Amino acid sequence: MTSTEPSKAHQFPSGSDAFPHRHLLGIAGLQPWEILYLLKEAEQWVDLNRKSIKHAGRMDGLTVINAFFENSTRTLLSFEIAGKRMGADVVNMHAAQSSIKKGETLIDTAVTLNAMKADAIVIRHGSSGAVQLIADKVDCPVLNAGDGRHEHPTQALLDALTIQRRKGDISGLTVTICGDVMHSRVARSNIYCLTTLGAKVRVCGPPSLLPAALDRMNVADFTNFDEALDGADVVMMLRLQNERMNGDFIPSPREYHHLYGLTKKRLSLANDDALVMHPGPMNRGVEIDSNVADDIDRSAVTEQVEMGVAVRMACLDILTRRSREVEGWT
Ligand code: NCD
Repeated sequence: MTSTEPSKAHQFPSGSDAFPHRHLLGIAGLQPWEILYLLKEAEQWVDLNRKSIKHAGRMDGLTVINAFFENSTRTLLSFEIAGKRMGADVVNMHAAQSSIKKGETLIDTAVTLNAMKADAIVIRHGSSGAVQLIADKVDCPVLNAGDGRHEHPTQALLDALTIQRRKGDISGLTVTICGDVMHSRVARSNIYCLTTLGAKVRVCGPPSLLPAALDRMNVADFTNFDEALDGADVVMMLRLQNERMNGDFIPSPREYHHLYGLTKKRLSLANDDALVMHPGPMNRGVEIDSNVADDIDRSAVTEQVEMGVAVRMACLDILTRRSREVEGWT
């Protein structure tokens, strides 16, 4: 079976069988048709989000807790808006104001969240694997909103939806991911997602920022950005994750920009209609120039944010479906 076959709607199983997972902790291990099902479901929410009344109501009476142990603007807001549009009661827990600051363990926090009978918990945490730890302790679905340098599954899904809407079938596309691949959960989740869907993925960056594990990830690695851009259909830029760096990985931001910054001139090496993407937050003038990031003909950056809400609505809906079915809801 090729990765494109399951995109035909009638091939998806119905109800909660279409995505038979309790949690969304990562993209690794998902089947192509499971990813395509999430993307297909998100399409309806893109349409709803463009209307003036955006209420779906499928999650009326359910409670979603967003537990963010790391800073976030777009992901937190996106999950909050997604939950509210689905009709859920959404509560945000910011670590800075939480008992974590008083020395509570992550497991005690998880047990506390569980006792409040949340119907879904969305977690961002600075440590890889922390989200899995919480998922093992609670009774409801857990969605990973980014754990350390491990995975950021909804980012990869929103990126895939953006690419699919702009370029059609992802299978066969050449996608160049450039920057701080080593510390990036966005890169990791995107590599899993795009290769699973049949894209040819190239990763590029200074040798100090390319992880050794790339050998096992079915990607081509480049240290020369110009070469990595040749023939690219999509160019995905990454921020230098300074907060995760232990020591110096690049000589200076100026030198980094010289070799790995996406300028207009450099973008001309990719295909004429190559799509430019960035998960945000952007460091303008470092990994990407403003005249590229703001070029509405080439850049999909704001569309990525828009797709983020729709994808998160789909994920919340699908993961809570099983408990709604048990309760006799439709
Ligand atoms: C990314 C993250 O937090 O991993 N941002 C995001 O979720 N939109 C990427 C980054 O911080 O550079």
